[in-house]
Amino acid sequence: MNNYKRYLVTSALPYANGPVHIGHLAGVYVPADVYVRYLRLRGREVKFIGGSDEHGVPITIKARKEGITPQDIVDKYHLIIKDSFERFGISFDIYSRTSSKMHHKTASDFFRKLYDDGIFIEKTTAQYYDEEAGQFLADRYIVGTCPKCGNENAYGDQCEKCGSTLSPTELINPHSAISGSKPVLHDTTHWYLPLDRYEPWLRRWILEEHREWKANVYGQCKSWLDSGLQPRAVSRDLDWGVPVPVEGAEGKVLYVWFDAPIGYLSNTIELLPNDWERWWKDEETKMVHFIGKDNIVFHCIMFPVMLKAHGGFILPDNVPANEFLNLENDKISTSRNWAVWLHEYLDEFPGKEDVLRYVLCASAPETKDNDFTWNDFQTRNNSELVAIFGNFVNRAVVLTHKYFEGRVPPLNALTPYDEATLNEMPLIKQSLENNIETYHFREALKDAMNLARLGNKYLADTEPWRLAATDRSRVATILNVALQICANCAIAFEPFLPFTTQKLRYILAKSADSWDAFGRPDILAEAHKLNEAQLLFDKIEDREIEKQKAKLKAASKLSAPAPQKDACTCDDFMKMDIRTATVLEAERVPKTDKLLRLKVDTGIDVRTIVSGIAEHYSPEDIVGKQICLLANLEPRRIKGIESQGMILMAQQPDGTMRTIRPDSPVENGATVS
Ligand code: MF3
Ligand code: ZN
Repeated sequence: MNNYKRYLVTSALPYANGPVHIGHLAGVYVPADVYVRYLRLRGREVKFIGGSDEHGVPITIKARKEGITPQDIVDKYHLIIKDSFERFGISFDIYSRTSSKMHHKTASDFFRKLYDDGIFIEKTTAQYYDEEAGQFLADRYIVGTCPKCGNENAYGDQCEKCGSTLSPTELINPHSAISGSKPVLHDTTHWYLPLDRYEPWLRRWILEEHREWKANVYGQCKSWLDSGLQPRAVSRDLDWGVPVPVEGAEGKVLYVWFDAPIGYLSNTIELLPNDWERWWKDEETKMVHFIGKDNIVFHCIMFPVMLKAHGGFILPDNVPANEFLNLENDKISTSRNWAVWLHEYLDEFPGKEDVLRYVLCASAPETKDNDFTWNDFQTRNNSELVAIFGNFVNRAVVLTHKYFEGRVPPLNALTPYDEATLNEMPLIKQSLENNIETYHFREALKDAMNLARLGNKYLADTEPWRLAATDRSRVATILNVALQICANCAIAFEPFLPFTTQKLRYILAKSADSWDAFGRPDILAEAHKLNEAQLLFDKIEDREIEKQKAKLKAASKLSAPAPQKDACTCDDFMKMDIRTATVLEAERVPKTDKLLRLKVDTGIDVRTIVSGIAEHYSPEDIVGKQICLLANLEPRRIKGIESQGMILMAQQPDGTMRTIRPDSPVENGATVS
């Protein structure tokens, strides 16, 4: 407990260049949502701020690859992400975006204030420029040979093979990852935030005044501070982002990590245009940032320095960053498609939002990286949610209907065991509160589960069904106690499993209780009528789990190049007569989706080939094209047509195909070797 009057809770703004996956949910959004739901239940004043991070180089690269604008990209993913969060019950007070007008203005004004106050250092340096693409290259987009280990695919900021930190000018034979061309050095001017000047203040503020921060967060901050802070550029040469509001800064935008955290502020202003200052300037507001570990330096060092340099703003009270969630013993990877995407889960497991919330909170990577496996998902559902929580509630309600027409029976004489059971509830409540307030959400969830376990064990021990014929008064007491525990569960689980508690309240035919009621043995009045029982959770069968595992394997294969085939000899290769040819005519083979019948000029003859490329080329696309052909493939009859040879195609991991042809036209019949 503390003296704060209100809570401003933020969660990292996800990049709007792809959908969100279970790693996002487990690391950031479930813990943040549990926290704010708990605070609201306790009647605290709280705002939960979210939004999409819509700037940065990767978004521009993706747009270029897909031949659309960055705005198209972020429009698409902002909606997908927002929708996934809504469907999972992540209860933001606002979910906005950094491409909004409000954000541009807020970030621009923020920068301008620091600029006018003379906070920044202005520096001109030589940076790599891609003349073909007409743009400066971010370090990540310069590839070359690592000077330390010789890896030819090292990035301008890091070699992933030997782990060295690099600067782009150290790379041997650098080339642009965008166009492949050789970049040249051009002078460019940028503004730097002098983090070094704030080091003494940061050391005091974090290392002395915030010893209570999580060990992983504190440790990372300490190691950054111990290795010495450097001025950090807060502008970039790019045409996507918040323009630098300084004369002569055309073609420059704010560095994405400068503008994004200001998004918390912009979104608060958007939410509370007349009241936002109370939330950002009053020392009685407790600000908490929920993030993943890769964001620690930005939220614990850079953003606080920005706020401090600006003046007038509060600083975060805590930054309970999580580590990473792995998937089936492997790093989650968007590019390898090794992920469980939230929008897909929602469609494939309708009504099971809480199951994922439960599993991810129960195995959240709070102190170290953690693993999500589908088997664990199944076990936690079947042996915890179904077998303990669901089973307990169902028994209590079904028996009440069976013996007491669905009305809460009277509490007669309590045995010492009944009393001990009821007395557990305030203890569980206390522990749960302590755990949530100190950001130990896994432990807090265990507390809630212990309440369900308590009820389940109570019914198993007292066996009211055996007493029905002989001791109705005792059965009444037992069921009353059990139902009171159910009503307590409806409160305890509310921050974690909001869909389930809603269902449970419906079964118990009652409106939501406040947190104060939690722990009480008399939430349900005698004779209160319950609704019919229904199952809170369903068993998840093996085949559903197998299906998910297979899907994961298949999807990840699709995005990886095919493995190399077994070795062949030169003779093997020379047996193949590959030559150039030109397509003269093409038509679809009737009643097929994939086949084209082609007439090709091979230089030695004109022949017919049936080719399975109709999904990739229409007849008009392919006529007149030069191609390569395996000419001496044994003739085969396909759909009644004799096919004399095979066209060579490049097939991408996703199955799409392109023809292979000489890079400038050659005579038909030229041999390929
Ligand atoms: N987009 C960043 C990421 O996904 C997080 C930005 S958090 C913010 O890692 F505070 F800067 F917005
Ligand atoms: Zn290296």
